[in-house]
Amino acid sequence: MNSIKPFDPQLKFEGRVALITGGASGIGFAVARQLSELGASIAIADRNADGMEHAAAQLEGTDPLTIDVDVANPHDAAEMVSKVVVHFGKLDVLIHSAGVGIERGFLETTPEEWQRLIDIDLSGTFYCAQAAARHMVENSYGRIVNLSSTAGLRGGTGRAAYGAAKGGVIALTRVMAVELAPFGITANALAPGAIETELVARMHSEETRRVYRAGIPLDRYGTPDETAFTAVFLASEQAGYVTGHVLGVDGGFLAAGVMHRQGRS
Ligand SMILES: NC(=O)c1ccc[n+]([C@@H]2O[C@H](COP(=O)([O-])OP(=O)(O)OC[C@H]3O[C@@H](n4cnc5c(N)ncnc54)[C@H](O)[C@@H]3O)[C@@H](O)[C@H]2O)c1
Repeated sequence: MNSIKPFDPQLKFEGRVALITGGASGIGFAVARQLSELGASIAIADRNADGMEHAAAQLEGTDPLTIDVDVANPHDAAEMVSKVVVHFGKLDVLIHSAGVGIERGFLETTPEEWQRLIDIDLSGTFYCAQAAARHMVENSYGRIVNLSSTAGLRGGTGRAAYGAAKGGVIALTRVMAVELAPFGITANALAPGAIETELVARMHSEETRRVYRAGIPLDRYGTPDETAFTAVFLASEQAGYVTGHVLGVDGGFLAAGVMHRQGRS
């Protein structure tokens, strides 16, 4: 008879090592804080050294490792994972949140803008996830969460380079889920909608905000913590049967079509 292991619904990360790229700011920082509060050992990797120091100082009671990295550089990505493994002895979780955005029309996007978004948002995801997975296969355990976007699933004005890169992240994540499954590694993607972070402060004009909110059934932008919590779930041991998934964190944006704003001004 099979013995049934009791299922513990409490999220616990004691003994787990998590690497968060883009951890100096926004969604990445919120993930780092939540995972550290749940007991994980934390490594934050970012190209913003000052932001990283500031972020690390806010993770009270933990001693996070901070790593300077340009995720668009494959050597940096490999070295980043080596540093985590040397420091903590292993790597269990990668949350890949480093990324940049741009709002530029398809007709106006320059080759340089296109290349920068592909280099950082798409190639950066490949370099970091591959480096992490090459270590994780040795331990037959891993959780990888890549930050995509609703722009990777739906069209929209000004999202030619960004949407193409984020759509690529979804395709890459699905291939990773299939190829890494034999090694006990799950790979999932988040597709946040509009989340109040520095990136959105830079990208969204007042006009963009007005138009965007009109398409969000919950009629508001999301918070970094609401987004981070979904990454924490996917990074948990308990989410071991969820892989190759794209989770919208978008106030219903992906579900919506034409909407009347009944009962709302
Ligand atoms: N905020 C949103 O509404 C939203 C929506 C959809 C997707 N996303 C995605 O979520 C992720 C996090 O976004 P955020 O809103 O927290 O942005 P953010 O700007 O607050 O944080 C991104 C972090 O990535 C770092 N970074 C950028 N380029 C890097 C590079 N080449 N190497 C290393 N670090 C680099 C930045 O220094 C910054 O700390 C991004 O991939 C973004 O595309 C955000």
